[in-house]
Amino acid sequence: MSQTENHTHTVRRLYGPDLPLFREHLLRLDSETRHDRFGLQVSDEYLENYAELCFAPGALTYGYFEDGVIRGGGELRMFSSKDHPNHRDGEAAFSVELPWRRSGIGTQLMKHIVLAARNRSIGTLTIVCLRSNQAMLRLAKKFEAELQFEMSEVTGHLVARSPTAMSLWHEFVDNTLDLGASLIDYQGRLLHRTAHEG
Ligand SMILES: CC(C)(COP(=O)(O)OP(=O)(O)OC[C@H]1O[C@@H](n2cnc3c(N)ncnc32)[C@H](O)[C@@H]1OP(=O)(O)O)[C@@H](O)C(=O)NCCC(=O)NCCS
Repeated sequence: MSQTENHTHTVRRLYGPDLPLFREHLLRLDSETRHDRFGLQVSDEYLENYAELCFAPGALTYGYFEDGVIRGGGELRMFSSKDHPNHRDGEAAFSVELPWRRSGIGTQLMKHIVLAARNRSIGTLTIVCLRSNQAMLRLAKKFEAELQFEMSEVTGHLVARSPTAMSLWHEFVDNTLDLGASLIDYQGRLLHRTAHEG
């Protein structure tokens, strides 16, 4: 966790207790962001169901927290490869609330997703976005060394590089700390609520 101008901020993996905060992040997205993120207009009800899916087996979600509120999210969904049933492919997606854009949050989230995908030996990582989505195109371009792009949609192919002992260790340490942080945050919210209701 870091602190600037009295704000605390961190990017970490999300666990069950973080679901309500992640749902609130998605519900705050304005209609243009929803369109860019999902490729079509989606309702609040759709987002409420979608948030649950981000915590289901086969999914991994990271969040950017500022002062205890999630302002950005990155999701990785994993599934069996169509071409090679013994291999796994993944789809990644990102959202950062408008006032928090262009300060490197998308880049931080993507770093975590690329590391997680690599450690799970994901063969192809796809990011579906509109051709006109300059922000996502630029973000993807920053990972050119690790991902190859097809210009049709921004389909990033993770270079088939097996996980190194170091990258697995980094993610293991991060996840252990993140689970602890998730529980501490949850308890903090409960205490805050109890103090205000009691
Ligand atoms: C795509 C998105 C996640 C990027 O988040 P972000 O926090 O603004 O990203 P960063 O600040 O890390 O910027 C990443 C790069 O993109 C560039 N960039 C960001 N927004 C841009 C824009 N609107 N136009 C051009 N370049 C842009 C940044 O300058 C940076 O490149 P640089 O480091 O070479 O300068 C964010 O714009 C977003 O949530 N968009 C709506 C949802 C969406 O389109 N999701 C993608 C489809 S799943």
